[in-house]
Amino acid sequence: MKLLIDNANIEDIKRIYEYYPMDGVTCNPTILLKEGKNPYKILKEIREFIGSDAQLHVQVISLVAEEMVKEAHQIQKILGKHTFIKIPVIPEGLKAIKQLASEGVNVTGTAVYSPMQGYLAGKAGAKYVAPYVNRIDNLGYNGIAVAKQIHDMLKDTNIDCEVIAASFKNAQQVIELCEYGVGASTISADVVEGLIKNDTINAAVDVFVKDFETLCGTHATMLTCLDD
Ligand code: G3P
Repeated sequence: MKLLIDNANIEDIKRIYEYYPMDGVTCNPTILLKEGKNPYKILKEIREFIGSDAQLHVQVISLVAEEMVKEAHQIQKILGKHTFIKIPVIPEGLKAIKQLASEGVNVTGTAVYSPMQGYLAGKAGAKYVAPYVNRIDNLGYNGIAVAKQIHDMLKDTNIDCEVIAASFKNAQQVIELCEYGVGASTISADVVEGLIKNDTINAAVDVFVKDFETLCGTHATMLTCLDD
């Protein structure tokens, strides 16, 4: 499963990239708002950091297909061909997805709350569809089940499109979809860090260090404990 960070803060992105095996960055207008700067200024900085081949997913704002397509062209002109264009899966969005897919533009169907949205976006030519796991849960439905159902529908009907699950609130949700084989998950910095945050792990590692120091002396490591 590809792991992307759902964030536009360059410091968070750099920190997460330093430690974790990440495959790209996604954002949406709400995430950009948190940075309070010109969107292209933020996105160019992210692109420069992650490199021209990495996935960067950027959302259009227009609600009319023709304008969405124009935005997509501009986004890719400025941020490169490996920029996935996030299009909300509404009727105008499906129209735009069909047009962009016919041009070979990589599209991510977003704002997905139902299985049929995911299926139709894939059938229209999107490379990814993004069910919002936690937001679906908050509506009283099962976000994980919806993500799995979309994954199954796409696979069962041989549509070349992967689920990129989004809107996570905890590590367990990510694990469950990873185990199920979904193509990608995009997660916030705190949920990435929560994936292996566990005091029991730290305590076990601390015991190993203490035991080695007891054997070889304070601050000793395998670099310093030479047999000479
Ligand atoms: O990018 C869309 C999705 O990640 C939204 O997440 O946390 O605002 O529900 P959230």
